[in-house]
This record gives sequence, structure tokens and C-alpha cells, in this order.
Amino acid sequence: MKIYSAKKSDINGCLTLLKQTKETHFNRKKLNLAIDNKNTILLVAKEDDKVVGYVIGYISPCNYYDAILQETRVAIAHRRQGIATKLIGGFLDVCKKQKVKCVGAVIGNDDVNGVNLYLKNGFSKEDDWGWYEAKNK
Ligand SMILES: CC(C)(COP(=O)(O)OP(=O)(O)OC[C@H]1O[C@@H](n2cnc3c(N)ncnc32)[C@H](O)[C@@H]1OP(=O)(O)O)[C@@H](O)C(=O)NCCC(=O)NCCS
Repeated sequence: MKIYSAKKSDINGCLTLLKQTKETHFNRKKLNLAIDNKNTILLVAKEDDKVVGYVIGYISPCNYYDAILQETRVAIAHRRQGIATKLIGGFLDVCKKQKVKCVGAVIGNDDVNGVNLYLKNGFSKEDDWGWYEAKNK
């Protein structure tokens, strides 16, 4: 298994992972835009040329020293093999090379697996970052 910067030819593989759990928050158009955007980081984990996981996030185009890790996703059949850990490591490496000072991870309050995953990969709840929402209706 190797980690690569995503190409447009990897989009179908990423969408297949979302389809496994009937999720639609990313679609072909959004992933195309993500790959074209120079502030986006989209890495894929591939095994035998098949996408088995991805990590997506972005470097803030306001200050270029904060980054947000939006989502890590691994194919159901490939979970608990350290793939998400490698993807997050790859994401943090890219951030380091780009001189990012702080990476925030988006995690649902009730997402115990997500919390475990990010805690295990060097993230902590420092309380100097909090997520406050203003929803558009
Ligand atoms: C969460 C997810 C990305 C983990 O991927 P993965 O490749 O299985 O993760 P890893 O094998 O690298 O696991 C690393 C650590 O994360 C935690 N973890 C991962 N899956 C877990 C689970 N089902 N239950 C509890 N802890 C879990 C554990 O601490 C694990 O370390 P361990 O295996 O030594 O106990 C995967 O389950 C997934 O795609 N879920 C759906 C999307 C999602 O919820 N993403 C996270 C928030 S963005």
C-alpha cells in the first residue's frame, strides 16, 4: 500500500468509498475542484492500483500557516490495518513541507473512532481551537 497525491483518475475510487456507506458529501464535481485547487491536499492510499482510502483537507488561503484536515476515509474491507494512520502521516508531511504551523481536524462530537484515530496520530484537544457554527437556513 502506498500513499499518493490524488489525480483525477483516482476520483472514481474515492467515490466508491463514499458509496459504501451511502454518503454524498463529496461528488465528482467537488473532487475535481479539490484537485484543481492549489490549497487543497487530497491524498489517496492505493493497493494494486485500487484506491483503498483518502484524506482530504486544505491549507488556509488566509494565512497559509493553518490547515484543516476535513476527512479521512478507508474502504470498509481495509480498516484496522493502519491505512488511515499512514494517510494522516502523509497529510502532516505535506503540511510540514508547506510550513503549516497548526493542523485542525474536523471530528463529529459522537465520532469515537475518529477521536481515537486523531488522538493516536498526534492531535490533542488543546481548547485553543473550538468549532462554533452559524448555519445558513
Ligand atoms: C475512522 C477510519 C478512517 C479509520 O481508518 P483505519 O484505516 O481503520 O484506521 P487505522 O487502522 O489507521 O487505526 C488507527 C487508530 O484509530 C482508532 N480506530 C480506528 N478505527 C477504530 C474503531 N472502529 N474503533 C475504535 N478505534 C478505532 C484506533 O485507535 C486505531 O489504532 P489501533 O488499531 O492500534 O487500535 C475508518 O474507520 C473510516 O473510514 N471511517 C468512516 C469515515 C470516518 O469516520 N472518518 C473519521 C473522521 S473524518
